[in-house]
Amino acid sequence: MERSWVRATSLETLKEKGRFLLRHEGKQVAIFHTPGGVFACSNRCPHEGYPLMEGSLDDGPDGAGCRLTCNWHSWRFNLRDGSTEEGDRVRVYPVRTEAGEVLLDLSDPPAEQRISEALTALKDALRRRDRGRIAREIARLENAGGNPLSAVTHAIRETAPRFAYGMSHAQAAANDWLALRADYARTPAERLVPLVEIVDHLIDDSLSEAPRPFAQEAEPFDAANLEQAILASDDEAASRLIRGALAQGLGWPDMEPAFARAALHHYADFGHSAIYTYKTGRLLERLGHDALEPLALLLTRALCEAWREDLIPEFRAYKPALEAWDGAGRTPVSSEDFRGLGVKQALRRALESSGKTHALYQALLGAAAYNFLHFDLSLERRVDLKPSESKTWLSFTHAITFANAGRNLAERYPDLWPAVLLQLACFVGRNAGAVSNEPLEREWAPKDGKAFLDGAFKMLFDHGNPEPIVTAHLVKLSTAIKEEIAAAPQASWRDTLLAALARFLANPPHRPQVLRLATQAIRFVEQES
Ligand code: FES
Repeated sequence: MERSWVRATSLETLKEKGRFLLRHEGKQVAIFHTPGGVFACSNRCPHEGYPLMEGSLDDGPDGAGCRLTCNWHSWRFNLRDGSTEEGDRVRVYPVRTEAGEVLLDLSDPPAEQRISEALTALKDALRRRDRGRIAREIARLENAGGNPLSAVTHAIRETAPRFAYGMSHAQAAANDWLALRADYARTPAERLVPLVEIVDHLIDDSLSEAPRPFAQEAEPFDAANLEQAILASDDEAASRLIRGALAQGLGWPDMEPAFARAALHHYADFGHSAIYTYKTGRLLERLGHDALEPLALLLTRALCEAWREDLIPEFRAYKPALEAWDGAGRTPVSSEDFRGLGVKQALRRALESSGKTHALYQALLGAAAYNFLHFDLSLERRVDLKPSESKTWLSFTHAITFANAGRNLAERYPDLWPAVLLQLACFVGRNAGAVSNEPLEREWAPKDGKAFLDGAFKMLFDHGNPEPIVTAHLVKLSTAIKEEIAAAPQASWRDTLLAALARFLANPPHRPQVLRLATQAIRFVEQES
């Protein structure tokens, strides 16, 4: 590595004052004369940026005479290597004294070293959930010429074993954050925001969980066996098959059909299984093969752990409807046909148009958009409802994100259309009981739909919401709406869906619902005693 020595000051001046601030080409370097020698570090404290020149020196616990304490919040740095117990290290510079002069090497270490250091430091930042440092490490990675998306892959890999129930919205929304970055980020800070959001959500969802390692052994891959292992909720066996696929050099296209069929085999997990499967494929297109192992294992676990909604009385009509599907229903269909229908009736109505796949999908998505726009907001604040009666915005947003995921999967695997359409009918039927029929579309439909949707995305760069899960739903929902409109620009439900998004943004989810929780808890305890 080529050194680039810069004269800072004379040794005599430094000795006299004990410290010296060098300003050089936009850098500020604090130089200290200590009992342990002469040391130099960046003048900006990595905590909040205050000047380390104003810090206090002492010998440190090892008596080496080179500990610097920042006087603002007492972060303590070892000036030999810049390390600190508190968090982010400070950059230090090699120093040499020669002929009574103090010389500093201000050149950057080789790119590979800086990239590797940034990724190692990111691991520590993840452990501490230090959002500021996460942002800095990703910025350092990019500044060194590294791919900033590798920070996302790194974070997915590091946190994966702590997702005891497999994939969550943290990974699923990552694709949509990266889409936002690609389509809307205009400044370096905006390009960094989605990466920090993704990593922060990964930590939020994984910090409290005890590690649950994945199976390490490999078994020869077989798509049918993977699907069966998932349906049997056998995470160990399914993970071994994933390991086998990876060892055989197989990729996502080899695994996706089994995942898609397993995800839609049951009406499961309130649509999450299908959403996660679709988003995993999209995310892998952005992150590349390096992310396949953790994402495939996380998805496997999530599908193995999925709840079976079709076993709940409300959705028991689903399986018989699927069995009755013959693709022969010829009745023309529109979204109005589903208005006010409960789950059973919605399934029956869907069967009547089973031969009109595309029209039925459009009608069901239109009905889901209508329900979404007309959600009776008073229900979200009701505290006297049983858990089974409780409805929130998420009941409606999931219908849209499920539709988007289901359509994309069914277009690749057409045998999945019956499951997608009937599951969408379950969403529509379930939500129909929580809508008011006020005429809301004129009030909420944006004048310029494209400008409105662009604005909704741009707002995500500075949303101010403290809960990653809420913002993840917002980015997922906006992305699903954008994709559905792009797939059917002339669709009759377009304005309804945009109006629903506008109303949703103006009336954000009422969270956390502690009064409802407390009311339900008291009722539960009364009934058990
Ligand atoms: S700014 Fe230095 S410790 Fe806070």
